[in-house]
Amino acid sequence: MTHRFDFLVLGSGIAGLSYALKVAECGTVGIITKKERAESNTNYAQGGVAAVMSQLDSFDLHVRDTLSAGVGLCHRDAVEILVREGPERLRELAQIGVEFTRNQAGELDLAREGGHSINRIVHSHDLTGREIERALVARVTSHPNIQVFENHIAIDLLTEHHAATKHVIDRTNIHCWGAYALNVHENAVHAFLANAVLLATGGLGHVYLHTTNPQIATGDGIAMAYRAGATIANMEFVQFHPTSLYDSGSPSFLISEAVRGYGGILKTQDGEEFMQKYDERKSLAPRDIVAYAIDTELKRRGEDFVLLDLRHLPADGIIEHFPHIYETCLNKFKLDITREPIPVVPAAHYACGGVLTDTNGRTSIHGLYASGEVSMTGVHGANRLASNSLLEGLVFSDRAARDARRFFREHPVAIPEIKDWDDSGTLNSEEWVLISHNRREIQQIMWDYVGIVRSNLRLERALRRMDLIRNEVETFYKKTKVTEGLIELRNLALCAMLIIKCAMKRRESRGLHVTTDYRERNDKEFLADTIVD
Ligand code: FAD
Ligand code: SIN
Repeated sequence: MTHRFDFLVLGSGIAGLSYALKVAECGTVGIITKKERAESNTNYAQGGVAAVMSQLDSFDLHVRDTLSAGVGLCHRDAVEILVREGPERLRELAQIGVEFTRNQAGELDLAREGGHSINRIVHSHDLTGREIERALVARVTSHPNIQVFENHIAIDLLTEHHAATKHVIDRTNIHCWGAYALNVHENAVHAFLANAVLLATGGLGHVYLHTTNPQIATGDGIAMAYRAGATIANMEFVQFHPTSLYDSGSPSFLISEAVRGYGGILKTQDGEEFMQKYDERKSLAPRDIVAYAIDTELKRRGEDFVLLDLRHLPADGIIEHFPHIYETCLNKFKLDITREPIPVVPAAHYACGGVLTDTNGRTSIHGLYASGEVSMTGVHGANRLASNSLLEGLVFSDRAARDARRFFREHPVAIPEIKDWDDSGTLNSEEWVLISHNRREIQQIMWDYVGIVRSNLRLERALRRMDLIRNEVETFYKKTKVTEGLIELRNLALCAMLIIKCAMKRRESRGLHVTTDYRERNDKEFLADTIVD
């Protein structure tokens, strides 16, 4: 079956939904999403959205903090846009009904997180993402121009490769006209066609064994874009959040950085503070530094977790500011965070790299935009500043929507006839164990060899193993009817490979990429993005 829209959106987190509402003003919109519509990283965001909303703050300060966290690799033009357009985008969220936490005077309650030199995090208690997602989903669901396809997983982007009549393939001039997607309930693949396509499929946390990301985060968008010929950048910069609750299952439960902003202190198991050895900002240093410090202490001491201690803070304040974290720890994990220190470990959290875009969300493929965690806009450089991610999704989806509307008006697209999905000759596989085993193997390899601290030896070992797994998976994929598990496995294997390859290219330590073979930062040779075409 073929579905046609003016605009197609892949993903229903903050980037996809906020874009959809804006392009729906001038055309029909189809949104494809893997699970039910609210399921996304966005829905689990805790801390909030960083933006200049107080007289005490300034654009210059937010720009400076972002550039400093990014360790030399942020694109200054993109950062300026992020910071200057952010407050207006937040006001728009409030207008569609997002309730942000306010103080007794009715002003926004601005919280603090690592790397910020001032309180600037706008939040809804400690469930900011859920509140934003709720309001966006409500708007999208009632919009007459928007149709949402839940439980549809995009498989691949439609380009010249998929045209029914033969097209000359020129890698410098590729067009995107839509995507094939598997309707998971019907077990049927449909083609979705549109004049402009937005990739908003989020991150790739599940490339790693331990992650804060929900199950949807398997790097599908990056893998699809790479296979279609888009330029990908900076995949080596995977951010590990310093404080996920130790042994809390998959995904790991996050203890928001705002908890440290509120005064929580990191200690070793014998109660010693250690962050002063790594950075003068101590527990409130940027994430790359804190995660590295915890990893180093754990390895040095042979321990499994460090502690986040809140016992010196007033219990009622903790409960008021972090009701979700307090209740989840108490009810699900039998831990009273007002009385007991919290055992925490780093976990894979965020992809700073992704599909390279310009400041209007355009990728290197005509008609294909990318926004949110799937994209590499240049705002995060080698390490994202806390709470700049939701902001990035909002700001660059707005810009992409404006550009796509212009593109749609000015360049009517002639979409060629697209081949139907052809799975003749493939078999239904009973071999689920191959998928689950390969998935686990990828996650273990990436965790052990391509984690917070890397080395040439570990990366070479990871590359050899990943090569083997990828070949196995591709062979299996060609012979087998697609399933959600197989689609994700193929994408996880490819994203893992892209991370390893980018990490091998960067022969220095910078931000989130730390290697024991090149301990220093090397601006002379590596003050540039890592590009894979
Ligand atoms: P997502 O919100 O992840 O949405 C991606 C969408 O794409 C989902 O709907 C998914 O189902 C869909 N999708 C994926 N693959 C496919 C496919 N193949 N086919 C169809 N659909 C697909 N950032 C902050 O700025 N502040 C915070 O406080 C914060 N807290 C966080 C807490 C946690 C626990 C986590 C995990 C992340 C947090 N982040 C935070 C990061 C932030 O939430 C994400 O980076 C951001 O929400 C990404 O938004 P997005 O729209 O790009 O992707
Ligand atoms: C958190 O609440 O610690 C997450 C913030 C972020 O990922 O930016």
